[in-house]
Amino acid sequence: MPVSNLANKPGAVTAAARADRAAPIEGRAASGRPSNPVSDAAAFLRGFLARPMEVASVVPSSRFLEQQVVRAADLSRAACVVELGPGTGGSTRALLRAMKPQARLLAIELNPGFCDRLQGLVRDPRLTVQAGSANALSGHLAQWQLPAPDVVVSGIPFSTIPTETAQRIAAEIAACLAPGGRFVAYQFRPQVAQYLRPHLGEPDTRAEWRNLPPMTVFRWVKPGR
Ligand SMILES: C[S@@+](CC[C@H](N)C(=O)[O-])C[C@H]1O[C@@H](n2cnc3c(N)ncnc32)[C@H](O)[C@@H]1O
Repeated sequence: MPVSNLANKPGAVTAAARADRAAPIEGRAASGRPSNPVSDAAAFLRGFLARPMEVASVVPSSRFLEQQVVRAADLSRAACVVELGPGTGGSTRALLRAMKPQARLLAIELNPGFCDRLQGLVRDPRLTVQAGSANALSGHLAQWQLPAPDVVVSGIPFSTIPTETAQRIAAEIAACLAPGGRFVAYQFRPQVAQYLRPHLGEPDTRAEWRNLPPMTVFRWVKPGR
């Protein structure tokens, strides 16, 4: 579907709406206003104070964590990527910088304030920002007529969201991923493994200490290719 048509989907906030006006972006990083770490941090803190259990961190991910997540995701050949919980967009920009020019990124964010901010700041025709919950992942993919994702990246705090929601999100991720696809989650606590283990088995893990708080990057590969 042409990107300009995607802008007409109901109930969504989308940077893709601007794609028909944007020049092709082959070989360059995500467009939009340059990121401002201070205003990102302030917006993130406000988001945390308003919805602490959903945001679960007082500052956005560090560049070190973003780089580690991008490496684990191995985006060089991915055609369809999903980000769950993009927040203020630092991780989104990092993913876009590593993605192919023709790839698509669907970013699903529960917090409407973060969605609006992301839409205003990250203008890249590869990006679609969807307001809503990751627990409806398959529905969002169908709504945007996207194929099974090669990569799903998640910053959603599995340890503080309700158990039923976490179980549903884990099942959706495992069911939606393409065979051979990767699920990468960065977490302060280990609960994500307990939710994904029944579906995708044991993860590879790596610690990233250069983040506040220190994080573990979990990575699963869906069998089948
Ligand atoms: C720890 S923050 C990560 C933000 C950003 N990716 C980063 O690395 O700085 C977690 C994010 O997940 C979002 N979130 C929490 N539950 C969610 C859900 N069920 N569906 C979508 N997003 C969710 C929060 O609103 C928040 O933006």
